[in-house]
Amino acid sequence: MSSRKYSYIVFMSSFVFLVMLFAGSCKSVLRDSSKDKIAGKNIDKQVEELLAKMTLSEKIGQMVQINDFDGVISDELKQRLRDGKIGSMLNEIVPEANLEIQRIAVEESRLGIPLIMARDVIHGYRTIFPIPLAQAATWDPNLAQACARIAAKEASSAGFQWTFAPMMDIARDPRWGRIAEGFGEDPYLGSCFAAAMVRGFQGDDLSSPDTIAACAKHYVGYGAAEGGRDYDTANIPESLLRNVYLPPFKAAVDAGVAAVMSAFNEINGIPATGNVHTLRDILKNEWGFDGFVVSDWKSTAEMMEHGFCEDMRDVAEKSIIAGIDMEMQSSAYGDYLEELVKEGAISEKLIDDAVRRILRIKSRLGLFEKPSIYSAKLPGKPNEEALALAKTTAMKSMVLLKNNDKLLPLSKDLKSIAIIGPLADDPYEVLGTWNRDGKPEDTITPLAAILDMIGGDTEINFITGLPYSRSKDTSEFAKAIELAKKSQIVLFFAGEESILSGEAHSRAYLNLPGAQDELIAELAKTDTPVVLVIFAGRPLTIGDIAEKIDAILYAWHPGTMTGSAVADLIFGIESPSGKLPITFPKTEGQIPIYYNHKNTGRPPEGKQLTMIDDIPLRAYQSSLGDAARYLDIGYKPLYPFGYGLSYTQFEYANLKLSSDKVKLGDNIKVSVDVTNTGDMEAEEVVQLYVRDLVASLTRPVKELKGFKRIRLKKNETKTVDFALSADSLGFHTNEGKYVVEAGKFHLWTGGSSEAELMTEFEIIE
Ligand code: BGC
Repeated sequence: MSSRKYSYIVFMSSFVFLVMLFAGSCKSVLRDSSKDKIAGKNIDKQVEELLAKMTLSEKIGQMVQINDFDGVISDELKQRLRDGKIGSMLNEIVPEANLEIQRIAVEESRLGIPLIMARDVIHGYRTIFPIPLAQAATWDPNLAQACARIAAKEASSAGFQWTFAPMMDIARDPRWGRIAEGFGEDPYLGSCFAAAMVRGFQGDDLSSPDTIAACAKHYVGYGAAEGGRDYDTANIPESLLRNVYLPPFKAAVDAGVAAVMSAFNEINGIPATGNVHTLRDILKNEWGFDGFVVSDWKSTAEMMEHGFCEDMRDVAEKSIIAGIDMEMQSSAYGDYLEELVKEGAISEKLIDDAVRRILRIKSRLGLFEKPSIYSAKLPGKPNEEALALAKTTAMKSMVLLKNNDKLLPLSKDLKSIAIIGPLADDPYEVLGTWNRDGKPEDTITPLAAILDMIGGDTEINFITGLPYSRSKDTSEFAKAIELAKKSQIVLFFAGEESILSGEAHSRAYLNLPGAQDELIAELAKTDTPVVLVIFAGRPLTIGDIAEKIDAILYAWHPGTMTGSAVADLIFGIESPSGKLPITFPKTEGQIPIYYNHKNTGRPPEGKQLTMIDDIPLRAYQSSLGDAARYLDIGYKPLYPFGYGLSYTQFEYANLKLSSDKVKLGDNIKVSVDVTNTGDMEAEEVVQLYVRDLVASLTRPVKELKGFKRIRLKKNETKTVDFALSADSLGFHTNEGKYVVEAGKFHLWTGGSSEAELMTEFEIIE
């Protein structure tokens, strides 16, 4: 073992901020919440004055969030509103009812405290933007910020002041259906997008009528569910929790997120909703989060199912002690908090702290003065600005996985094109999970966009071949093959329907559902080249089919402007430029597989390893090579993190550092020349990775530390700079301490996590 000296930096609340500020295009500013003020209003004063007037029952009322909607506001609901027994409602969708609910709360309750009306606005409200995983594939947080800004405008106009987004659960398992809702596997990329979306929803001034409160969810470790089964157990050592799962939440807190949602899962035996360590110690005390925590839908009551709470009274007690300020949908708080305080089981100070937090956000939102609670109207059709942004984001999110012999882009002058596949003309299934308010009639399908783009001289031969993605009905196959044979090219639109990803929709088999593989394989046997476009909420295991196809564009679930974005890329109006925010496995058996793994004592790279078909009978156990890999599939993924092709080529050269030694507290300037050597103007995502070679806790083989999206003309070279701070190159120990250690690092730049251009530097004391 190395005997190098260690330098410790005590955990800094601004750590994530530093990482982002100094490393690439992901900028962050600590949010100044004093900007959220209405001419001269003192938020603390307003909150304290109100709190002083409240009865215990009214305080507890603020901590209750319900969904009660059946189209009519019942007498019971009216009475609860008048009695100040409800602080928030969620997912009530009739604007007139929202207004009436607010009116009763404001005009007929004793203190007139408005409700905060919440909704799941996850990737757009009326305008549906690409799913969050796709947005992460743009590697352009500014785009995600702009999408969230438009979503906030649309949602606020419909009477909502709070969204349950962004979801920022790091996920290394594509079986998990909710992988679609997050930003992928990397904590740095995830942090950049988490902060950007918070800024987009909340804007600079939370009190302006078109901004809404954001909610960082699901705190925490939800994406680490065993086997990728939604809601399942997560076992996460402290260092992993802090190095991988917590950073996006920290970034969201630094960006001023108004609320945090506790997760359904347990972490190391303690449910996230009753977890004093993560909620009270880390989030509230260590990070100084001053917004409020809401539980997930009945996640408080579910602590009984977990085997952590005995009954609802126990649920209320454990939840408030852990730091849940508002209870979503279940009734432990409404039914038991008063009794717990009166009997002295919990202090009223805990209640005051929770209510203060909720009122603080209501005050920052300007709800007490905001005229917007008196107006609510469902937004009409998406406007031009929203549609243009939806198209750009979709286009930049799509990842070109394969393009043999430059099959793409296609010429617009083809004589005939066969458009086949269950998702070629489906306006709903390309919208993705959590599409609650988008309308399929706004969607531009691939077929519609291509018909619009291609002149009348091209014959378009269209057939879905399969009625929907899970269908096994082969009755149209012969017709589809016939159309393929008489066309110059086949565009096949495959994938999984929206409902196959998202909450509670985990899959054990990740292939294209139904008989799609079969149909594609049949089409590949014809002489007509096939281009495959895949719409999905997760990485699918497409290895077998990829071998038979020359070009594959991975389009995720792109939203309202699906077709326009796909058409522009296929016909070369723009080059694909998305990069994978998550590793694509060859097969489910490789999962979990992620780029920032540990090296192990027996890494497979560079070793002679016998594969299963070559194992001699009765071979001696270790004659095959001892390494961390599979006999049958090896150790490499199908496509690595950060990967994505372009219609042009980029060359990286002249990787330089301002110094090969850096002191704690200092920066290294990294520069690299990137040249577009192909024949088309295009964008590239320049990525920067490091490896800490020896540390007191083993470090990943690569860690993303910066990225920049650049645009280069044909033959153009740009020098791309990164400022890498030594202080951002540390890690959290198993005791939860953030340390930066002196020692050697490798550094790479390139167009994927398999970048080869490498240099070295050292952190010195
Ligand atoms: C989900 C949350 C969501 C909430 C409210 C839960 O089932 O886990 O992500 O915000 O419902 O709809």
